[in-house]
Amino acid sequence: MSGDAASFDSGSEGERIRRPRDPQLIKQLWSVLSPHRRLLLFALLLIPLGSLLHLAPPFLLKKTIDEAIVPRALQNIAPYGILLIIVLVVEHLTGFVQLALMQIAGQRAMSDLRTQAHRHLLGLRVSYFDRTPIGRVMTRVTNDVESISESFSAGLVTLVGDILTLIGIVIAMLWLNVRLALLTFCVLPLLTVAVVTFQRVLRQTYRVIRRRLAHINATLQEHISGVKVVQIFAREQHAALEFDQANRAYRDSYHRAIAFDAGLYAIVEMLSSVTVAALLWFSGLRVGEGITFGMLVAFIEYAQRFFIPIRDMSAKYAVIQQALSAAERVFGLLAVDEPDAPRGQRPSLPTTPAHRVDTTVPAVEFRGVHASYDGQTPVLKDVSFSIAAGATVAIVGPTGAGKTTVIRLLTRLYDIDRGQILLYGNDICQIDVAELRRRVVVLSQDIYLFGGTVRSNITLEDPAIDDAQVVDAARRVGLLDLLSLDATVAERGANLSAGERQLIVFARALARDPEILVLDEATANVDPESERIVQAGIAELMHSRTAIVIAHRLTTIQAVDSVMVFADGRLSERGSHAELLERNGIYARLYQLQYVSQAPVPLA
Ligand SMILES: Nc1ncnc2c1ncn2[C@@H]1O[C@H](COP(=O)(O)OP(=O)(O)OP(=O)(O)O)[C@@H](O)[C@H]1O
Ligand SMILES: [Mg+2]
Repeated sequence: MSGDAASFDSGSEGERIRRPRDPQLIKQLWSVLSPHRRLLLFALLLIPLGSLLHLAPPFLLKKTIDEAIVPRALQNIAPYGILLIIVLVVEHLTGFVQLALMQIAGQRAMSDLRTQAHRHLLGLRVSYFDRTPIGRVMTRVTNDVESISESFSAGLVTLVGDILTLIGIVIAMLWLNVRLALLTFCVLPLLTVAVVTFQRVLRQTYRVIRRRLAHINATLQEHISGVKVVQIFAREQHAALEFDQANRAYRDSYHRAIAFDAGLYAIVEMLSSVTVAALLWFSGLRVGEGITFGMLVAFIEYAQRFFIPIRDMSAKYAVIQQALSAAERVFGLLAVDEPDAPRGQRPSLPTTPAHRVDTTVPAVEFRGVHASYDGQTPVLKDVSFSIAAGATVAIVGPTGAGKTTVIRLLTRLYDIDRGQILLYGNDICQIDVAELRRRVVVLSQDIYLFGGTVRSNITLEDPAIDDAQVVDAARRVGLLDLLSLDATVAERGANLSAGERQLIVFARALARDPEILVLDEATANVDPESERIVQAGIAELMHSRTAIVIAHRLTTIQAVDSVMVFADGRLSERGSHAELLERNGIYARLYQLQYVSQAPVPLA
């Protein structure tokens, strides 16, 4: 499957992709290929040699027949025979070297391109991924790149070689005998019409095939990643039906392609046979008039070598076209210009822990912050607050109020529209992002664990974290009581319980010793049994640290220094738990609601 899903979805591009024009595309392709140009050049130089060698055997056959077999001068057979063997060996050797060089160069270039795409992707803003289906991005980096590389083996070289061979055959035929040559060329119009017509239908059919394959992939992916939902809601039958339909449609379009492919093959074979028959008939009538037996054999050989490249030419052209449009999509991805906040250029904050306890400068301050995701719909409206160093503050409010957004802005996953955000008195835009995110660590509800060990999930391969820190962090959050550091973690942590996953993530944060810790509903997933373990871990994490806790369950946050209540993108109330209850506003209402719902229901 080459660029299948890609060519399918390219019509529905929702992303801002620059469409490079062809010369620019060639330039970009060259920039990827040029580091490997020596290999490529060598391969290209071998093409004419390969074509020439391909033309030689019929001619040698003619010589053998006319000069050795027909005059019964059998002593001449050996030299021609040996020459023929040498030519054949060298021809195939050349073909081997040429294809190998081309493919090696191509694969190296494509490997570079994948690396480049991967690096580029990881440096993009998260908002890019909000808009872009992940499947599409994956297709770019795998299938589309594969599609480009196919043109190195099946497209470019062979096409150029074929054209040279065709030209050579035409010249050789005309040189051998003009009348026989013209006779052979008589079928050309018919051949051209057949090839062009069939290939056009084939191309359309292959397009349909790719689209249906993409549909199969999408269906499969959805069913497999949602397998739990499929099973629990007993949707297997429906899913099977859905897949069956996709599968059948794919199979049927393949049937069509096979029919046309075989049809084209048969027509070309037939035309080739008719030509051979015509040659035999025509020359049979004229033996002695400058047409030798050897010449006839050579002509038949050339005629057969003539038809195959013509038959394949438009298929090869299609491969190159596909590669070009795949290249366009890959370079379109590389042209997405939405980098994450810049890093590595800003001056650092003082690293002494002194400012952690300097109570005159707030650890975090929002000044008249306005923000939106799309640049239009305001999500935060004129939000101002400050959090003293060392304090523990809770953010509460109804769903969609903008709580998570506050945190995303603080860590610069997104940027604000207006206002200012300060960390220890420094505008966060002036702080190196890598450093900012080291100092402000967010633990959110969507935990992500990588395949590996507990240890590798805590360090995340950060060389700055030594083993003593890992052990200490794991012990303090209570993880070591449950798991060893070398225990295997499956992809996404699928082999661990929710509480275990949670504790690993806590240890990950604690090992980094952040100045500011944010818990965004970090415990919402945990059942009451593990809650106790997790709460102990959290207490350890928040110990002597500025902490921001976002929680739905207000009962869990009564011990904080102050509570900020968000509603509809605004900070509407702030105070201690007691003050806010006294005030009898939104917080009091939310609290009443939860308190009542959590009270034991009397049995009748
Ligand atoms: N990536 C996004 N792109 C566009 N809009 C978003 C995005 N994330 C959130 N929003 C919108 O911004 C608003 C605030 O979302 P936010 O996630 O900050 O709410 P929240 O207070 O954290 O809610 P919850 O309590 O449910 O977690 C919501 O209206 C939401 O639809
Ligand atoms: Mg949220």
